[in-house]
Amino acid sequence: MSTYDVARVRSRFPALAGGTAHFDGPGGSQVPLEVADAVHAAMVAGLTNRGSVTMAELRVEAVVSAARRAMADLLAVDPVGVVFGRSMTQLTYDLSRVLAKSWGPGDEVVVTRLDHDSNIRPWVQAAGAVGATVRWVDFDPATGELPTSAVEAVLSPRTRLVAVTAASNLLGTRPDVPAIAEAVHAVGALLFVDGVHHTPHALVDVGALGADFHACSPYKFLGPHLGVLAAAPALLEALRPDKLLPSSDAVPERFELGTLPYEALAGTTAAVDFLAGLVPGAGTRRERLAVSMAAVDAHETALRDRLEAGLRALPGITLHGTAARRTPTVLFSVAGKAPREVSELLAAAGVNAPSGNFYALECARHLGLGDAGAVRAGIAPYTDESDVDRLLAALA
Ligand SMILES: Cc1ncc(COP(=O)(O)O)c(C=O)c1O
Repeated sequence: MSTYDVARVRSRFPALAGGTAHFDGPGGSQVPLEVADAVHAAMVAGLTNRGSVTMAELRVEAVVSAARRAMADLLAVDPVGVVFGRSMTQLTYDLSRVLAKSWGPGDEVVVTRLDHDSNIRPWVQAAGAVGATVRWVDFDPATGELPTSAVEAVLSPRTRLVAVTAASNLLGTRPDVPAIAEAVHAVGALLFVDGVHHTPHALVDVGALGADFHACSPYKFLGPHLGVLAAAPALLEALRPDKLLPSSDAVPERFELGTLPYEALAGTTAAVDFLAGLVPGAGTRRERLAVSMAAVDAHETALRDRLEAGLRALPGITLHGTAARRTPTVLFSVAGKAPREVSELLAAAGVNAPSGNFYALECARHLGLGDAGAVRAGIAPYTDESDVDRLLAALA
């Protein structure tokens, strides 16, 4: 394992200079100078629409293809299967409507209560619009685990699509997606994986996950605000989204409605390059990502252990979620205090750890927390031990 120099990483984030401890990464991570500089450089370089004549058009083409290649390296997918959009939510809604064109009464769609609402509601509403049936999968509220057997129990030859998260943004739980994929494919259904909370914390290989569709959001992994959907080009070729007549019918462009945010794409490439350079080294970008993400995982897991041990030692704190495999995202409640009160107390101490259900509404309700949820402390590549110790000191 190469060493992870968190002080060097932190020095690249201007937002950390103010001294705030940012545990709000699962909502949106802080941005390194490299990403902000790339956005700025793209905007002042002279950009226009895509095209093949002027320098401005060619620059845009270069920005778009570089971003597709960067996401392809991050996710181990074909760049031709990388679709950009405003957010994961928008891309999921769009895709749900395309897929639902071929569903009808008797067809079944599976969603889980572990998921963020963006991987539930679009499917529930698309199924409802065409008379298809929705099957719900529950997780174990005592542990936060989502057993593969719970998914298997609702599968049938009528299942058309299963939507599951690669990691819960509330509990951190990482279901066994490859095993779920095997069961889903055995009944001939498609698997849509929400990778938004998982992608910042692990080296993703969409093929190894077994996902037919994989969605993520660069603003959760040190990049700008946009969403990315990845799928095999052949699968995208088989789908016909509604689109404008003059816009490109090629894949992946036919899924990208309107003009793309080119400056955000430039920032996305920079974010992937930054991740690949978290541990300086040689090799292809994918090889460097593998080394860096392994180091991030080790760094973040050690901090999570320190945070959880510290929280357990404090009176009146309940930790939610103890799944065997989970991201470094810790959800907790404090006896006698509303979640928001705790967040306010922490904010006053310069520690950002927001409270709520974080749009994982079904999950918060199934945990018995209600819509107010709990307090979430998410560890990011720039988190260090002093951040953790400050959070613990503020609660002591
Ligand atoms: C697990 C998860 N899925 C989906 C989303 C929605 O992503 P976006 O804001 O790109 O629509 C979020 C955002 O918090 C999330 O945490």
